[in-house]
Amino acid sequence: MKYTAEKINISNKSSFDCIVIPIFEQYKLSKILKKINDISNNYILNILKENSIQGKINQNIILYKIPNFLCNKIIIIGCGIENKLNREKNKLILNNVINILKKYSIKEIIWYLTDLKIDNYKLYWNIRDTIDIFEKNTYLFHRFKKNKSYFSSKLKFNIHDNNKDIYFSAIKYGNAINLGIKKAKNIANLPPNICTPKYLSIKAKKLQKKYKNISVKILDEKIMQKKGMNAYLAVSKGSKNKPFISIIKYNFNDKKSQPIILLGKGITFDSGGISLKPSRNMEEMKYDMCGAAAVYGTIYAIAELKLPINVIAILAGSENMPSSNAYRPGDIIKTMSGLNVEIVNTDAEGRLILCDILSYIEKYKPKYVIDIATLTGACVIALGNNISGLMSNNNILCKKIITASLETDDRVWELPINDKKYFDKIKSNIADLVNSSDGVAGAITAACFLSKFTQKYKWAHIDIAGTAWYYVNQKAMSSGRPISMLCQFLINQVYND
Ligand code: BES
Ligand code: MN
Ligand code: ZN
Repeated sequence: MKYTAEKINISNKSSFDCIVIPIFEQYKLSKILKKINDISNNYILNILKENSIQGKINQNIILYKIPNFLCNKIIIIGCGIENKLNREKNKLILNNVINILKKYSIKEIIWYLTDLKIDNYKLYWNIRDTIDIFEKNTYLFHRFKKNKSYFSSKLKFNIHDNNKDIYFSAIKYGNAINLGIKKAKNIANLPPNICTPKYLSIKAKKLQKKYKNISVKILDEKIMQKKGMNAYLAVSKGSKNKPFISIIKYNFNDKKSQPIILLGKGITFDSGGISLKPSRNMEEMKYDMCGAAAVYGTIYAIAELKLPINVIAILAGSENMPSSNAYRPGDIIKTMSGLNVEIVNTDAEGRLILCDILSYIEKYKPKYVIDIATLTGACVIALGNNISGLMSNNNILCKKIITASLETDDRVWELPINDKKYFDKIKSNIADLVNSSDGVAGAITAACFLSKFTQKYKWAHIDIAGTAWYYVNQKAMSSGRPISMLCQFLINQVYND
């Protein structure tokens, strides 16, 4: 989709293809609709009344060939009671509108829906939500389709002299962030026979060619062995696909300022290993690399925006498979930190690859570290499919993440990790830690495990097991979450700190 913003003058001489205009309950016409109604000698209001389209949410009508008016069609969108419109309802309306535009393959749109003042809902976010929802609803992954379909159109926002900067800035950020989201989805939706840890490292390397502020370092098995990253190495022992860690450095600030590190779990397929998962829905475990995809998409957007900041995005690529060479329940593994972990369940592999990287990155003296991982089914039980789990060892960082999540409506909810009882659950009798504990508070005990490796810096963990993908016609598709929130966190870091 292409977005532009312009001051549009509607008169009996304007000849646009399609105009999208709001109406409120009880036939309350918006200013622009009133104007067209006048031009057409009450034609609009008469038709609305004939059809009882009084402006409720979900009531829409397309009008063609309006008297004295040259535009091909206008779509009138019911927006409910005028001062009861809010962000949630607005998003619902936007989803309805995009479906109409797709259904009729409308190619050029003049947009009046952001022209409204809505309490507690800034114009900037209304524009961003519009772009986000349009991009989400027009995204197609047709690489493996014989017949490829496209929907693309041009949307022109109507602006006023006093708000054009808001439009231009929202379009700029909306475009860059949605490009990052699209790039991430295009990787995450790939099948696990193509998207391997090696593939992730190749995608990372390519960023170095594309952006002059990016440099990429790949850690292979040999380097990991030298560093003592045995927990990381254990997970992929059963797989023919070798593990690779991609370290993507984005430097747009003076070299000295401390970097923010984003670490993404990149299990390109999680079979569970020897603790094999049931076959039902196992194909969805190709999405166990969505944390890595999210940090890739975030750095992509940040590089597009040339944000003046230092960020390191790390893709923790590995595959968890059973074989005679695989790691087993019962094994004890020495992590890079020196802590020994008793393996209880080979399906709790995420924390094992993450913990060694959490030790490795101490050398960067990070300002903040945020890991993003499809870590636990327990998080899905706790928070469902629209809110990601947030766990942290630092209140300030936590608040910043919550702020970014509220702004972008890319929601997170904090779960506690500051209770000794949780830590008791991950104690081993014969080693320092077990990698998995009994059924309760699984999202939290996983985070407690990670927190043992993050004591040298401010850290937050985001469990996206419930939010990394969603269902379209009962089948999974990558959601690109939480890229919006992460980008906003970084943007705030530059402009609000
Ligand atoms: N990748 C899974 C978590 C997951 C499950 C993500 C369902 C999305 C949907 C993770 O590696 C895993 O298997 N976790 C185990 C941990 C347990 C063995 C302690 C789980 O959640 O069952
Ligand atoms: Mn697992
Ligand atoms: Zn996993």
